[in-house]
Amino acid sequence: MEQYIIKGGAPLVGEVDIAGAKNAALGILAAATMTDESVVIENLPDVRDTNVLIQAMESIGVMVERLDRHTVKINASMIDNFTIDAGYIRKIRASYYMLGSLLGKYHRAVVALPGGCEIGSRPIDQHLKGFRALGAEVEISGGLINAEAKRLAGNHIYLDVVTVGATINLMMCAVLAEGKTILENAAKEPHVVDVANFLNSMGANIKGAGTDVIRIKGVSKLHGTTYSIIPDQIEAGTFMFAAAITKGDIMIRNVIPKHLESISAKLIEIGCEVEEFDDSLRVVATKRLDHTNVKTLPYPGFPTDMQPQIAVTLALSRGTSIVTESIFENRFKYVDELSRMGGNVKVEGNTAIIEGVELFTGASISAPDLRAGAALVLAGLAAEGITTVENIVLIERGYEDFPQKLRSLGAMIEKVSEEKEIQKFKLKVG
Ligand code: UD1
Repeated sequence: MEQYIIKGGAPLVGEVDIAGAKNAALGILAAATMTDESVVIENLPDVRDTNVLIQAMESIGVMVERLDRHTVKINASMIDNFTIDAGYIRKIRASYYMLGSLLGKYHRAVVALPGGCEIGSRPIDQHLKGFRALGAEVEISGGLINAEAKRLAGNHIYLDVVTVGATINLMMCAVLAEGKTILENAAKEPHVVDVANFLNSMGANIKGAGTDVIRIKGVSKLHGTTYSIIPDQIEAGTFMFAAAITKGDIMIRNVIPKHLESISAKLIEIGCEVEEFDDSLRVVATKRLDHTNVKTLPYPGFPTDMQPQIAVTLALSRGTSIVTESIFENRFKYVDELSRMGGNVKVEGNTAIIEGVELFTGASISAPDLRAGAALVLAGLAAEGITTVENIVLIERGYEDFPQKLRSLGAMIEKVSEEKEIQKFKLKVG
């Protein structure tokens, strides 16, 4: 089975380029099916989630041509089927964005109901409430969501919780609905804004994305466009914490520093230097870091997708830190794995109480989910000795060339699948 093998201890030093934002890409790929004209998407990250969504789109007749590793040309004029198979939803939840795009353009969509997942129960009631408010009939039977509409008409929709997924899904569906839609209590994440900008570049009329009220005036059709996806806030944040936890010095290039403010602020608070440039950011850590408290919140708060990375860093910092997870209820699964490396973290409800230790020691661990998996890799990079991380397929969902990028910064990490490769690595690193 494929795994990462890591020899920890080296400070990561150098420069790294950040890929396009996975979570923006998923919305943008789905939205690209809302015109019969060709759409070119640039800066698309080459990660498992985007590749699975592309396969799901191809399965219903969307033509996807790869112009290079990070550029695709999409033409959806030949869609001949409105059902996204359950297999895709199992692999990637965000296939549910095809509900908003297909319903918006073709007035019908059938997508398997996504179940709970590794980070907790994830209801989609707000998506369904919104589709109904726009005039769709939505039924759930046999594990499938069937959505159909004779006519879609704008409406005033108040989201009961701040949800990225429902905001993007409803925005897509509303751009071709007749009249005005107002989405209140909308999510403000950078990827929501990126999907809105993309739709506007196709001729949609969306205003207010990035605030909590989004106003959409329906248009009769969308046209082709060429669009470049924003940099990945979470990949960038992960490398920022890689610098912090290994006492390194990393220049992180191709980022939007504004999107990283909540992360930079915490790093400065615990004793790192963070230098901002136009489209890059340098993080330097020279000493053992300090404790802090952090609570995950919707943007512009500290992202839940960065919670495991800050927690493993605090687990090596001086003193007691408290991390509160307010978005997903089951996002501390990595704590058991971390304790095998010497971490001292107690979880009570949605709070982790972290007693910083001086040292992690290498262990055999397994990635419980995408971001926790990346955080455990960071722990391995800071640990004494050898760490192996299994279940890396989850990490590959969202990180492009993760081991290669880390190696370019001086990390000792390899992706291996056979015992003899493990032995070879151990001989090499001594
Ligand atoms: C997206 C991101 C994910 C990130 C999360 C929060 C993608 C593909 N994934 O997930 O990486 O961790 O935002 O920033 O972009 N909720 C409801 N009802 C709904 C929808 C959501 O109660 O209909 C709740 C969820 O259970 C959760 C909260 O709202 O507690 C936020 O979820 P949401 O923002 O929708 O997360 P996702 O879009 O699934």
